[in-house]
Amino acid sequence: MSGSDCDALVIFGVTGDLSYKKIFPALQALVARGNLPIPVIGVARGGWTLARLRARVGDSLTETGDVDTSAVDRLSAQLHYVGGDYNDESTYLRLKQALSDRVRPLFYLAVAPGMFETVVNGLAKAGCVAGARVVVEKPFGRDLASARTLNRTLHAVFDEQSVFRIDHYLGKEAVQNLLYFRFANSFLEPIWNRHYVDSIQVTMAEAFGVQGRGRFYEEVGTARDVVQNHLLQLVALLTMDAPAVRDASAARAEKLRLFRAMRPIDPLSVVRGQFEGYRDEAGVSANSSVETFAACRLNIDTWRWSGVPIYLRAGKRLPMTATEVFVRLKPTPLAIFDEPAGGLSNYFRFRLSPEVVIATGTRVKQPGDGMVGESAELVARHASGDANLPYERLLRDALRGDPALFTQDESVEAAWRVVQPMLDADAPPVEYPSGTWGPPAARALIGGSNGWHNPAPETSAPC
Ligand code: BG6
Repeated sequence: MSGSDCDALVIFGVTGDLSYKKIFPALQALVARGNLPIPVIGVARGGWTLARLRARVGDSLTETGDVDTSAVDRLSAQLHYVGGDYNDESTYLRLKQALSDRVRPLFYLAVAPGMFETVVNGLAKAGCVAGARVVVEKPFGRDLASARTLNRTLHAVFDEQSVFRIDHYLGKEAVQNLLYFRFANSFLEPIWNRHYVDSIQVTMAEAFGVQGRGRFYEEVGTARDVVQNHLLQLVALLTMDAPAVRDASAARAEKLRLFRAMRPIDPLSVVRGQFEGYRDEAGVSANSSVETFAACRLNIDTWRWSGVPIYLRAGKRLPMTATEVFVRLKPTPLAIFDEPAGGLSNYFRFRLSPEVVIATGTRVKQPGDGMVGESAELVARHASGDANLPYERLLRDALRGDPALFTQDESVEAAWRVVQPMLDADAPPVEYPSGTWGPPAARALIGGSNGWHNPAPETSAPC
C-alpha cells in the first residue's frame, strides 16, 4: 500500500442489489489477488447483523458461480457492519467510531441517487470526509440540470479529484483495448479521420428484456440507461485525439474536448422503440412511453470528424446479445473490378462483448481466372473473459486514487447536453417484436446501400 491508498472501504447500501451482483464478486477477486488489505465496512438501514451480511456475501458469490473459499474467509474476517437510518446523525457517528484511526476511507454510494445528498452531508457533518474519496454510480443524474445539481452536491464536500464516477464500461478490458489499439499502432492515425472514414456505428444489442427491473427501467429508458453513458463513452474513446503526455489528466482533457465537440443530437434523427410486451412487465405502467430501443445519428464538429456520421443504437429483446463498433472506410476512388454494391469498402470491427475481437474487413481475389473478389477479415481475437472484472478493476483504481477510468464532472455534463434532445422527444416509442432490430425507422436512419452492420455470432472460438 502507498500513502495515497485508501485504508478502509465503506459501502453504503451493502444489503442492496448492486452490492449483491457486482460489488461482492469484485471484493472477492480483490482479496484473492491481495489487493484489499483493509477493513470493509458495510452500512445499511437497521435490522441486519454482521452474521447476516456475511451470509449474504456467501449467497452472492455462490449465485454468481465462482466461490474462492479462502478469499471468502479472508473477506468475511475483514467485514464490519454499521446499521442505521441514513437520515440519522448517529449512524455516521457510529461509522466514525468503526473507522477508528483510518485517515483515507473510500465511501461507495451504492444507494439510490435520491440518497446521495443525505449521505454526503451526513458524512461531512460527522467529520468523516477529510482525506476521503467517494464512488458514485451511473446514471449520474437524469438530465443536464440534475447532473449539475449532483455535481454541486458532491463538490460542496469533496473536491473533484476525490470523486470517482463509475461507468462500468470503462472498466472493461475490451473497451480499454479500443484506446490501446488506436494509440499503440501507427497505421491507424493517417486514416482515422474524415478523409478515410465513411461512418461509425455502435450497436449495443441485448437479447434479454428488462429482467425484473421494470420499475428501474421506467425511470430511465434506453437513452438514460446506456446511450448517455456507455455508448457516448465508446464514441469518445474511438474519436478523441491522443493525449500529448502520459497521464490521466491529459487523457481526460482530450476526452472532454471531444465531448464538447459533439453536436446535440438532432431530434429528427432519433428513433425510439419499445418491445412488444414491455407494458406487461412487473413495475411497468400499462401506458408506458419509455423506450427499450433507441437509435440516433451523432455528429462531431472537429476538423478530424466533421461530416462523418456516427450511428448509435441500443436495445433490449434484439436478435442477439453483442456490443460492436463498426468503422466503415470510404470505398476506393474508382471501381476497377466488378463488385457487389458496398462490397469494396474496408472496415474495422471491434466486438466488445461478449467476445473480444478486433477485425479488419478486406477484399481479396477469389482463386481462379476472373478478377472476382470476396471479403476476408484479418482478425485479432482475445480470450472472451475479462482478466479482471470491470468492478474489480474500478474499485482497485478508486482505492489507489487513479482517476483514469472514471468519468469527469464536465464530461458527464457535456454528455447530458448531447442526449438532451433525445430525452425531450415526446413522440411515443414505436413497438417492435422481440427478436428484431427495432422499429423499421431505425433502418431508414442510415441511407445508402450499406445500412446497419448487424453483429453476427463469432465464427471461431477465442484463442
Ligand atoms: C447497465 C445497464 O449499465 O449495463 C443495463 O443498466 C445493461 O441495462 C448493462 O444491461 C449491460 O452491461 P454489461 O456489462 O452486462 O454488458
